[in-house]
Amino acid sequence: MQRFQTLFRPIFGAIAMSVVLGASLPTSAVAQSNEKVVVAHRGASGYLPEHTLAAKAMAYAMGADYIEQDVVMTKDDQLLVIHDTTLDRTTDVAEKFPSRARADGKFYVVDFTLAEILTLDVSEGFQTVDGEKEPYYSSRFPLGKATFKMHTLAQEIELIQGLNQSMGRDVGIYPELKSPAFHAQNGKDLGRAVLQVLKDYGYTKKSDRVFVQTFEFDELKRVHDILMPELGIDLPLVQLIGGDESKWMLSESGIKEIAAYADGVGPEKSMLVGENSSKGRVEITDFVSLAHAQGMQVHPYTFRLDEGQLPDFADSFEQMLDIYLFDIGIDGVFTDFPDRAVEFIRSH
Ligand code: G3P
Ligand code: CA
Repeated sequence: MQRFQTLFRPIFGAIAMSVVLGASLPTSAVAQSNEKVVVAHRGASGYLPEHTLAAKAMAYAMGADYIEQDVVMTKDDQLLVIHDTTLDRTTDVAEKFPSRARADGKFYVVDFTLAEILTLDVSEGFQTVDGEKEPYYSSRFPLGKATFKMHTLAQEIELIQGLNQSMGRDVGIYPELKSPAFHAQNGKDLGRAVLQVLKDYGYTKKSDRVFVQTFEFDELKRVHDILMPELGIDLPLVQLIGGDESKWMLSESGIKEIAAYADGVGPEKSMLVGENSSKGRVEITDFVSLAHAQGMQVHPYTFRLDEGQLPDFADSFEQMLDIYLFDIGIDGVFTDFPDRAVEFIRSH
C-alpha cells in the first residue's frame, strides 16, 4: 500500500499548506543537504545528438556535476557509449549494413566490431515512417546536419578527465550497465569489463566521482558481491527503477533490500508522485523519505522540457525542478537540459 503526503502548492507561490496522509516523513541528513547534483543525461542531449562527444563537452561546459554514459559491448568486446543495444534509432546502420539485421529486423551492437561501428554516422533519435526518417523530438538538433560518430567508454573518460585538468573542475561520470543479462546471453560480461575500465582510469573507491548504475538488480548484487571485491574496488552503486518488473523496489521492504547493495536509487520520476496529482496539489509518495532513511540518494530520470514532457502538475521546467528537488526532496536529476537545471539550482 503506497502512502502519500499531499502538497498543496499555489501555482505562483511557495508551499501554502501540507497535509500528511499516512506515514510521517522524516528528513534525513541526505535530504537536508543543499548539494543537489545535475546529471547530464546522455550528455547535453537536448541540444546535440545523445552520447556524442560533442554533447558531452557541451554538458561539461554547461556545468553538469556528472555526465552519463550508457554502455553496450561490441562483437570484439569494446565498450561503446550508446543507449540502445541496437543501432537502429540513432545511426545509419540500415543504409550501410542492410544485410546485418537479425531475424527481428534490428541491428545489434553486439553483432558489429568497433571498426564497423565507427563507419556509421550518428544522429538525433529517429523512427522511419513510410521510408522517411522522423525525429522523436522535432525541436532538437536536426537530422542530416553536421557529422557525429560514436566512441568508447575509455575515450569519453579521457575527455572528461582531460577537461577536469584543463578546467580545474572535478566532474564525475555515471556509467550504466545496459542490459547485462542480454550481454550474458550473447557471451559477454559487460559488468566486469566496465568495472575494469573504471579501475584503469582511477575510479576505485566510494569517494571517487562516479556512480555505477543498472536496472538489473541481480547484476547490481553481482557487482557488489563478486566483481568489485575481485577487482579490489568499491564504487558507489545506483539501482535504477522503472517498469512493472521493478515495482517491488518501491515498497519499504524493497528499498531496504536495495540499500544492502546500493548507495542510491534512480527511479522514473513519475514513480515519486501519486497519479492523481494536479496543479497546486501534488501527492508525494513516501519513497524519498524511505530511501533517505536507508542512507541512499535519489536521482530520478528524466527531466525534459520538450513539448509534452512536463507533468500535468507543473507549468514550467523550473517549477517541475522546484517541486521535485525542494518539495519532494530528491538529491539530483538526470536531465537532457543540464544548463537549465544548473542555473535553477544555482539561483535557488
Ligand atoms: O540511467 C538513468 C536513465 O538514463 C535511465 O533511463 O533509458 O535513459 O537509460 P535510460
Ligand atoms: Ca541511462
